Amino acid sequence: PALVETPDGQTSWMIARYDDVVQALSHPGLSSAFMPGGMLNHTDPPEHTRQRKPIARAFSTRRVEALRPRIQQITDELLDTWETEEEVDVIGTFAYPLPIAVICELLGVPAQDRNLVRTLSSELIAPETMVDAYGRFAVYVQNLLDTKEPGDDVITELRDEPNLVANLVLLITAGHETTVQLIGNGLLALLRDPAMKRRLIDDPILIPDAVEELLRFDGPFPTGLIRVATSDVVIGGVTIPKSSQVMISLGAANRDPSRFADPDVLQLGRNAHVAFGHGIHYCVGARLARIEGEIAFRTLLRRFPELALAAEPEWRESFIRGLASFRVRPK
Ligand code: HEM
Repeated sequence: PALVETPDGQTSWMIARYDDVVQALSHPGLSSAFMPGGMLNHTDPPEHTRQRKPIARAFSTRRVEALRPRIQQITDELLDTWETEEEVDVIGTFAYPLPIAVICELLGVPAQDRNLVRTLSSELIAPETMVDAYGRFAVYVQNLLDTKEPGDDVITELRDEPNLVANLVLLITAGHETTVQLIGNGLLALLRDPAMKRRLIDDPILIPDAVEELLRFDGPFPTGLIRVATSDVVIGGVTIPKSSQVMISLGAANRDPSRFADPDVLQLGRNAHVAFGHGIHYCVGARLARIEGEIAFRTLLRRFPELALAAEPEWRESFIRGLASFRVRPK
C-alpha cells in the first residue's frame, strides 16, 4: 500500500499488489459503508448479509443459466444487422443493446424504457452528473414499482425487500454498464491478438477460458473500489490508520507479475483474476456476465471470423473502463 494524492487534492491509500488486494477485500476493518443511500455494495455486515441474500437468490445459477437461449436469440438478432453493413460501431449496435436487453428482461423493466435507463445509468457513472442522476433514477424506479404488474421477474420477487429502490438502481446499472465493457474491451484485445482470435475460432470450446483471461487483461473495473478504514488496518505489512480512504486497484492486481507471469500478454488457462472483486461483495452478476460474454464472443467469432478494426478506438472518461467508440468491419 502507498499513500497517494487523488485528483481532487485529497489523500488516499492505494492498494495494487495482487496479494494485498485480496487481503484488503477480505478485511473486516475496511468498510464499504462510506456513502449514503445504502446500496448493497455500500453496506457492511450485518446489513450487507441481510440485503444480499434475497438478491443473490434472485440471480441464482439456475435462473441465469436458463437464460442462455434467450441471450443467444438477442445476440443473433443484433448481429443480423451487421450482415449488410461495411462498418459498424460495436458499442452502440451490440455491446450496449445486448446486456441492457438481458438485464431489463430479467428484472422486469419494460422494453420501451431501455433507452431511458441506459441514459440514466451512464449519467450515474459519470462524475459530473452522478448526484443529480441518482435522484431522477430513483424517481423512475419508484414509479415503476408503483405501476408495474407482477410478473415472472426479479422486481416482482424482490418487491417486499427493504432498500429496493437503491438496489434496483444498482442492479440496472451494474447489470449492464460493466458487461458492455467486457464485450468491448475484450473484443478489442482479441482483434489486437490475431493468433488468439484464430485459436478461438478454430476451437470455440476455449471461449469460456478466454472470457476469464479477457476479464483479467482489461476488466471493466480497474480502479473503482473504495473502502474506509474503521480501525488501524495492516495490509501487506503496512499500517493504514483508522479513517483513511483506501482505493483498491483490481486492474493492477490482475496484471501483478508476481501472480500472473507475462501479465501484458493474453494467455489461456490462467485463473484467479479479481475482476469481479473478492470476499463478501463478490459480484452478484458474475455468472450472468460470464454467460453473456461467452455467447457474445462465440457468436461474433463464428459469424464474423474476418472481423477487423476499422479505426483506432476511443476510450471514454469514467471509472468503468470502456470505449466511447469502437468501429469495426464485420467482413
Ligand atoms: C459487485 C464487477 C457484472 C451486479 C461487483 C464488484 C465488482 C463487480 C468488482 C465488487 C464491488 C465491491 O467490492 O465493492 C463486475 C464486472 C461485471 C459485473 C466486471 C461484468 C463483466 C454485473 C452484473 C450484475 C452485477 C451483470 C447484475 C446482476 C453487482 C452487484 C454487486 C456487484 C449487485 C454488489 C455486490 C455486493 O456488494 O455484495 N461487481 N460486475 N454485476 N455486482 Fe458486478
